[in-house]
Amino acid sequence: MKITIIGTGYVGLVTGACLAEIGNDVLCLDVDARKIAILEAGGVPIHEPGLEGVIARNRHAGRIRFTTDIEAAVAHGDIQFIAVGTPPDEDGSADLQYVLAAARNIGRTMSDFKVVVDKSTVPVGTAARVRDAIAAELRARGADVPFSVVSNPEFLKEGAAVEDFMRPDRIVLGCDDDANGRRALALMKQLYSPFNRNHERTMLMDVRSAEFTKYAANAMLATRISFMNELANLAERVGADIEAVRRGIGSDPRIGYSFLYAGCGYGGSCFPKDVQALVRTGDEHGHRLQILRAVEAVNDAQKQVLAQKITAHFGERLDDLSFAVWGLAFKPETDDMREAPSRVLVRALLQRGARVRAFDPVAVDEARRVFALDLTQEESARLDFCDSREAAADGADALVVLTEWKAFKSLDAADLKERLRRPVIFDGRNLYDPAVLAREGFDYFTIGRTH
Ligand code: NAD
Ligand code: UGA
Repeated sequence: MKITIIGTGYVGLVTGACLAEIGNDVLCLDVDARKIAILEAGGVPIHEPGLEGVIARNRHAGRIRFTTDIEAAVAHGDIQFIAVGTPPDEDGSADLQYVLAAARNIGRTMSDFKVVVDKSTVPVGTAARVRDAIAAELRARGADVPFSVVSNPEFLKEGAAVEDFMRPDRIVLGCDDDANGRRALALMKQLYSPFNRNHERTMLMDVRSAEFTKYAANAMLATRISFMNELANLAERVGADIEAVRRGIGSDPRIGYSFLYAGCGYGGSCFPKDVQALVRTGDEHGHRLQILRAVEAVNDAQKQVLAQKITAHFGERLDDLSFAVWGLAFKPETDDMREAPSRVLVRALLQRGARVRAFDPVAVDEARRVFALDLTQEESARLDFCDSREAAADGADALVVLTEWKAFKSLDAADLKERLRRPVIFDGRNLYDPAVLAREGFDYFTIGRTH
């Protein structure tokens, strides 16, 4: 099938690559000429395991191409995926300007039946606005071309995006129950049929429920994390171990083990913005979402918890102290720094006069870019990026762990003790065994384990 992807970011690029992989003819459009130039030259602008290989294979087979030419992109696909960003507006609601710009672009030049797919995470009612935007463009040029807007939210996780796309838990399709909607549904089912071989994963529903499902899923996952973080902070005070508690409750199949890890707060491009956007949707409809407000507040506070532990140990001012930071990305296996807890912690340390020696296996380039925006020049001068975790630890007064990269999990405690000026670890991901580190003579501060 002929597919156009509008917006070649994390979701668009993975969607395009994976749909090419199952045999479709994919054209990816982006307004960012730099991104398209990298892709056309055979590069990949983001770090995502397995993605480079899928793109290379399909470029070679001629199944995926990249362009900045809007008209060519609209002409190409029978199915047009809108996968542009939906960042938070000033009041926290989803900013739909990119989605609606993409819709207008489709309406401006389309000449035959199109299925327009909302892949971006968009508030309930957006499909109707996309439909109106396309219809207005068609009217403006006196054209009468049939189309239908489908909601097909994406549930992939960064760092496992290719795997998640190729083996989805579910494929949510929200379609209109009219002639064009049924025509669109038939095409969407055909497109996704290779994912349904052993097990039907497609879930059909009305458009609004599909839009809502995406926010409900992220809000539920974010709620679990904030809930565990709040319990972890209490566990420290009552002398319990949140890791034991996690195992104890996760074994109940009604609760399950996933997304119960306490830590230094959730980050990323989605949970923070999607929780905010759902809160705003509630407000707009006169329905105050109290739990989600608390989820957001607990998460904001959680991003400060490690800095509080550090100042409780070393004092409010940290001049003359140097901190090794392991992990900058908001989670492992990605270079994405959006809303990463490291941005809050590193800044807090620098503002108190400390030096920071930071290491991340893949996110250093992206970290340089975002910290240049976050920090003053004076603060930046006290931030060094190191080539290895060992180099970051050399001569530091303490180690701070912010991302649970697999490589960080194996720790040569004796070697680390040699490198650090003081044997102190602040662990935002609970990676190590407190008993082992205590035996090695470390002061080991965790999230919910120290008592
Ligand atoms: P992104 O910022 O990585 O990519 C968006 C791309 O769209 C950018 O490259 C931008 O240049 C491009 N763009 C903007 N306007 C355009 C236009 N009019 N025409 C063509 N291209 C345009 O964003 P992302 O992380 O891929 O997220 C996209 C959407 O998917 C968001 O709504 C997000 O909430 C949702 N989502 C993201 C993830 C994730 O893990 N990142 C997972 C599920 C859903
Ligand atoms: C999340 C969802 O998991 C995806 O299903 C969804 O498609 C995506 O948002 C989206 O809508 O964009 P992602 O943000 O890539 O995916 O990463 P997650 O693995 O969910 O992690 C998000 C944050 O939560 C990270 O900072 C992570 O460290 C934190 N987290 C996760 C915890 O603190 N504890 C946990 O138990 C799990």
